[in-house]
Amino acid sequence: MGNKSFKLGILVSGRGSNLSAIMDSIDRKELNAEITLVLSNKKEAPALQKCRARGIPSLFLDPKSYGGKAEYDLALVKELRAKSVDLVCLAGYMKLLSDEFISSFRGKIINIHPSLLPSFPGLSAQKQALDYGVKFSGCTVHFVDEGIDTGPVIMQSVVPIYDADDEEKLSQRILEQEHSLYPKAIHTLVEGRIQLEGRRTIQKAENS
Ligand code: GAR
Repeated sequence: MGNKSFKLGILVSGRGSNLSAIMDSIDRKELNAEITLVLSNKKEAPALQKCRARGIPSLFLDPKSYGGKAEYDLALVKELRAKSVDLVCLAGYMKLLSDEFISSFRGKIINIHPSLLPSFPGLSAQKQALDYGVKFSGCTVHFVDEGIDTGPVIMQSVVPIYDADDEEKLSQRILEQEHSLYPKAIHTLVEGRIQLEGRRTIQKAENS
């Protein structure tokens, strides 16, 4: 990467705890990148407050002010391009991206999802895992393609499910793993150590 700073654009809709984990990782110099823009589709997202508190550029774009999903997403693309974003990270962004958005940043959009994909894609992944009765779940960082949580897997963390778990307890246990997995996956991408071979991602060793 040399000295050129790697620019992250982050899309959020809510709490923003993964966003905070990424910011913390940058502050600790474990992740050599810069967040040049955080975009939210929700005005009241606590994630936006977190940006203001830490001086990170952020913007709320109201979906209701645009003619439709394609038009809204093109506005997002415009903002991200204006900030020369190298990688788009979805961090609790609860809106599906249009094909236009995905082709604008092909191979440069990643997401974190609270299950071991391809199990339990979509909404309420933790509840889906409990309802199904699996004994392990976890989280997945993956590339975003046109499907719902279907893109190539980059990294996963496994979390046990206990008999006493409810949705909240399991979500919390998974979330703790998300907070270390997401910055680690971004770091590995920033270092150019993730190679895509078909659907598989191959991780090159550090200093190799
Ligand atoms: C996280 O658990 C993330 O994995 C999940 O939403 C939560 C956002 O929390 N994302 C999805 O379910 C995407 N389909 P955060 O706003 O505190 O990072």
